[in-house]
Amino acid sequence: MRIVVLVSGSGSNLQAVIDAVREGSLPVTIAAVGADRPGTGGVERARAAGLETFVVNFGQFHERPDWNRALTDAVAAYEPDYVVSSGFMRIVDQHFLDRFPNRYLNTHPALLPSFPGAHGVRDALAYGVKVTGCTVMIADAGVDTGPILAQAPVAVLPDDTEDALHERIKIQERRLLIETLAGLVSSRHTRGGA
Ligand code: GRF
Repeated sequence: MRIVVLVSGSGSNLQAVIDAVREGSLPVTIAAVGADRPGTGGVERARAAGLETFVVNFGQFHERPDWNRALTDAVAAYEPDYVVSSGFMRIVDQHFLDRFPNRYLNTHPALLPSFPGAHGVRDALAYGVKVTGCTVMIADAGVDTGPILAQAPVAVLPDDTEDALHERIKIQERRLLIETLAGLVSSRHTRGGA
């Protein structure tokens, strides 16, 4: 099963997928890693692992649909079975989703539908929830909406900072993403997929 992973940040969740593939516990091929801007840690980690990388720089496009089309073409060139957003901080449009119908996975560091958007950890902490967590879903054109595939709870500690809580959430997020991908591989095999 071929995947393309999209990142915008440090890529620590991507690193967990790279490590799982390398140690043989996740039978997928990471066909490429792409980013929406230059200089991401995620692309650096991919290059260090000898993976193909690409950047479709959001800042170089005047019109969002042009960026989205360029991203769609760049991803499609690798013929992925699934596209995985792992800390990718851009919302893709219907043109992208139509090219990869029900095959665009996203992870979010909160228990959706609670606390969607770019600050899910901060919002959960500010609200004062006692339990938050992470979600893996099939992304649609909304912001962190779409059918949920998996979730994991993470307790909020009394003196938690956003960073400390987010790091604990990421531990579960990485596990959940890898388990979800492994589940998709096995369901393809039972369906007779490649
Ligand atoms: C993850 O928690 C992801 O859900 C959120 O940003 C974080 C990405 O972290 N959108 P990293 O870039 O994988 O370290």
